[in-house]
Amino acid sequence: MRKISFKLGLLFFVFVLGIETVLFASLYVTLVNSRINEEFEQLLARGNSHRRVLEKNYDPSTLAHVTMMESEAETDVVITNDKGRILFFSDHILPFAKRIIKNVKKNIPYDGMIVQKNWQKESHISTVSPIRIDGKIKGYVYMFQNTDSIQNMIYKLKHHFIMVGILSVFLTIITIAFLSRVITIPLIRMKQATEKLSKGDFSVRLQVKGEDELAELGKAIQTLARDLEFLKKERNEFLASISHELRTPLTYVKGYADIARRPNIEEEERNRYLSIIYEEAEHMQKLVKDLFELAKMDQHSFQIHKEPTNLCSFLKKLHDKMYPAFQAKKMSLVCSCDENIIVHIDQKRFDQVMMNLLDNALKYSVQDTTVSIDVRVEKGYIVIIISDEGTGIPEDDLPHIFERLYRVDKSRSRTTGGTGLGLAIVKEIIEAHGGSIYAESIYGKGTKMIITLQEG
Ligand SMILES: Nc1ncnc2c1ncn2[C@@H]1O[C@H](COP(=O)(O)OP(=O)(O)O)[C@@H](O)[C@H]1O
Ligand SMILES: [Mg+2]
Repeated sequence: MRKISFKLGLLFFVFVLGIETVLFASLYVTLVNSRINEEFEQLLARGNSHRRVLEKNYDPSTLAHVTMMESEAETDVVITNDKGRILFFSDHILPFAKRIIKNVKKNIPYDGMIVQKNWQKESHISTVSPIRIDGKIKGYVYMFQNTDSIQNMIYKLKHHFIMVGILSVFLTIITIAFLSRVITIPLIRMKQATEKLSKGDFSVRLQVKGEDELAELGKAIQTLARDLEFLKKERNEFLASISHELRTPLTYVKGYADIARRPNIEEEERNRYLSIIYEEAEHMQKLVKDLFELAKMDQHSFQIHKEPTNLCSFLKKLHDKMYPAFQAKKMSLVCSCDENIIVHIDQKRFDQVMMNLLDNALKYSVQDTTVSIDVRVEKGYIVIIISDEGTGIPEDDLPHIFERLYRVDKSRSRTTGGTGLGLAIVKEIIEAHGGSIYAESIYGKGTKMIITLQEG
């Protein structure tokens, strides 16, 4: 469960530790170098100041005085003549001094120089300053400083660094542990939420704070949960209505089949029952076909193949095909259309749309009424209106007629043979064309179905 925070924490820790180490090491090196340089400079300055005193009074008493002064200080002095012979020395520095003096090359600059700088290995560091009187070298002042004090100082410095280092590693661990938990807690909550979702529990509620990406993700999951919940509810309702739709015809089929198989029944009567059974079976067949159609449309693979079509000749053909059905019901069908409108439609699908709409207009109208198809072009849109003078749709039902399995008069389905899926299919097809459809109706007066398509 804590894996992600551990990983994140470890990653942070490795990086921060790396950065800290580099910073600490460079700080340490610079600090040590500058402290050591200071020591050298001080030693050299001290030698140079002795040298200045001696240049003013180069006599045995001053030499003795300088040496005596140094014997009290932490540093030591050795004064040689110009040939390198030792004249005075302040302490038991002799063996080391001799070795150094022997190795010193000539050409020592007047400002002096460092002759032993290895403070890590040698017992002393050392500088030399020449004594020059009247332009001639009179001798040299060698200064020595015990490296113990330097090493001691470095040791203390190292100790401090180690202490501060440990403290900062400790603080880093605490900070990172805290931060990585704070960062990963919302992630873990979301993971738990999605796990719940996948188990079918859509009641997840995430507390989302802020505007960052994590908050966005949280909101997205929340929306997903709500959508899934809605879909589940819708699916259940849909399944319930389908089973209801199938139950009624099946009851008829079963009932009439039961009567029809009785032996003492008239032939004529049996035929009547059989044709009812046939009709019910046909209805169920249509229902299943439409359901299958809708199921196919629900898949993302549902594709339409648009082709440029002359709308008026398309509608004319449709008119001729449907006209006999209208005539049979003593109704008339008129189509008014301008000659030259080219639309891009999937002809087979669009034919299905128009047949469905005309079928409704026919079904929900009485004789001696007219159904008309009108086409208008408005601001880059093509509007097709199918109007009838039929029963109309009550205001309360109007917003629902495009829903699956929705019928205004449930009981009438026996006589009209409707499944309530026609308009749902129509809507899917029109929307797949990038268009829209809506209905206007006055109950008792008639209905208008208005399709809007984009031109071209
Ligand atoms: N032209 C119309 N006039 C009156 N009612 C209509 C019309 N078109 C659709 N309806 C109503 O909308 C409902 C849904 O239509 P539809 O999806 O085609 O189903 P059905 O299979 O019942 O025709 C119908 O049951 C009917 O009540
Ligand atoms: Mg219909």
